[in-house]
Amino acid sequence: MMEPWIAPSILSADFARLGEDVRAVLDAGADMIHFDVMDNHYVPNLTIGPLVCEALRKHGFDAPIDVHLMVKPVDRIIPDFARAGATWISFHPEASEHVDRTIELIREHGCRPGLVFNPATPLNWLDHVIDKIDMILLMSVNPGFGGQRFIPSALPKLKAARQRIQASGREIRLEIDGGVKTENIGAIAQAGADTFVAGSAIFGAADYRATIAAMRAQIAA
Ligand code: DX5
Ligand code: ZN
Repeated sequence: MMEPWIAPSILSADFARLGEDVRAVLDAGADMIHFDVMDNHYVPNLTIGPLVCEALRKHGFDAPIDVHLMVKPVDRIIPDFARAGATWISFHPEASEHVDRTIELIREHGCRPGLVFNPATPLNWLDHVIDKIDMILLMSVNPGFGGQRFIPSALPKLKAARQRIQASGREIRLEIDGGVKTENIGAIAQAGADTFVAGSAIFGAADYRATIAAMRAQIAA
């Protein structure tokens, strides 16, 4: 299993002082910044795009940036995010006309491709592309908003995804996104996740460092 990574979702950060909030979570021990891109079309909310990603890079942040695209169509925004400094780019298969092509496009632009599964999206989208992706992102809420409740069916789905990864023999990160808290992160890790997105649980806490440390302790328990 890969080293566990905690990826705060800046969806719950204070956008009026985003640079300071990102600095604070990285100083507090976060491994990666989760960057939620919503288009008011694929999901019913509107957030941030490549300009903001580029601004974070210009600010000097060198941590991996984990771009979660909740946009349709996806392909035309990928080169912009690669230029803006994205490390990982994940997309929802339902939002792409040609899933294999989108994966190739991400790779060609020097980023690491991930495939995202909504709570009701079956894992068989992996059948013909698992040898090409570097991340499986399982949604444990329906995408669009922070602060929602974790959907428990994500736990058996994590186990199934972990088995798929093992069978592939490849190094693929298994990320969970939505409703992750200190109280449930232990069970989520047990089910097979190695990469943990948390938005409201981290940015809503008074002490980022203590929260991230408590999450790590639960993952290790
Ligand atoms: C939801 C986003 C999540 C969200 C997680 O569409 O993909 O990344 O910000 O927020 P919490 O951790 O508050 O559920
Ligand atoms: Zn996300």
